[in-house]
Amino acid sequence: MLIDKNYISAFVKTTERAAYGASLLKGKGDKIAADKAAVDEMRSQLNKIDMKGRIVIGEGELDEAPMLYIGEKVGNNNGYELDLAVDPLEGTNFAAKDLPNAISVLAVTLKGNLLNAPETYMEKIAIGPGLPKNLVDLDFGVKKNIELLAKAKKISPNKLTACVLKRPRHDLIVKELNSMGVKINFISDGDVLGVISVANPNSNIDLYIGTGGGPEGVLAAAALKCLDCQIQTRLVLQNDEEKNRAKKIGINDFKKKYDVNDLVKGDVIFCATGVTDGSLLKGIKNNEDTFEAETFVLHKSSSLNKIIKNKVKK
Ligand code: FBP
Repeated sequence: MLIDKNYISAFVKTTERAAYGASLLKGKGDKIAADKAAVDEMRSQLNKIDMKGRIVIGEGELDEAPMLYIGEKVGNNNGYELDLAVDPLEGTNFAAKDLPNAISVLAVTLKGNLLNAPETYMEKIAIGPGLPKNLVDLDFGVKKNIELLAKAKKISPNKLTACVLKRPRHDLIVKELNSMGVKINFISDGDVLGVISVANPNSNIDLYIGTGGGPEGVLAAAALKCLDCQIQTRLVLQNDEEKNRAKKIGINDFKKKYDVNDLVKGDVIFCATGVTDGSLLKGIKNNEDTFEAETFVLHKSSSLNKIIKNKVKK
């Protein structure tokens, strides 16, 4: 079964409204308030949609997130049973400081088709389209992965660029990339767009590598699935508390490597709207009675892949 195309405009409207909510607080130094504004707008929009929706990836568990919590039912209880991964404001620091690349993002599948990822870290490695299947692997290590990728692309390693989240935990990865002459595009936050950059030929990013949020990994995988790219991930469960959280949502094999089809099964819609101007999307432009929004929208089964610009009534 596929997701009806008629849903696309409703989900575009959802990330547009969430981005608008966050944009009202951009540059005000309060990431929690910006996130809340995005959550409020997204939730109210989702509840207008004809669906029996369920949040699979959201703002956290019920005890820590009063809205858009994991398991929350959304929609008006008519229509298809859908599962949703949502991040009303991805890059809360970017929004609070009015820096590039804050987005509102969601992914939708039919019920049961999204990995229930706990709110823990996740190792990620992603490459663009047109490469041999399973070319790179988290267990190969940086050197072997770079050699394989360079060989497949018929270029030398020092012509490759890797996108890496700037964190001390990535020092070793960075050292190895440096030793092979690989260029590094550092990002300070926002690894949904970081991972997706492997799909964008204009970004010149050949590889995404490193550890970021688990929920963000599933969202990025939804986009990569539509863009015929590859991602491999593995949860990082650092203590018993995190292991118990994973168990609670049905994950017993803590070392399992998940590829794109383990993370997102079947048909999928992905929408991301810019909050602040960024490399892929312009941010929200506020006018008197309207706002302008740019949304990257993908739908696997209809091969939809475009950036939609809308002027929306406030
Ligand atoms: P928020 O939007 O929740 O602030 O997350 C931003 C982000 O950079 C994600 O894109 C990334 O996956 C995660 O934080 C990395 O976490 P940490 O900052 O703990 O390294």
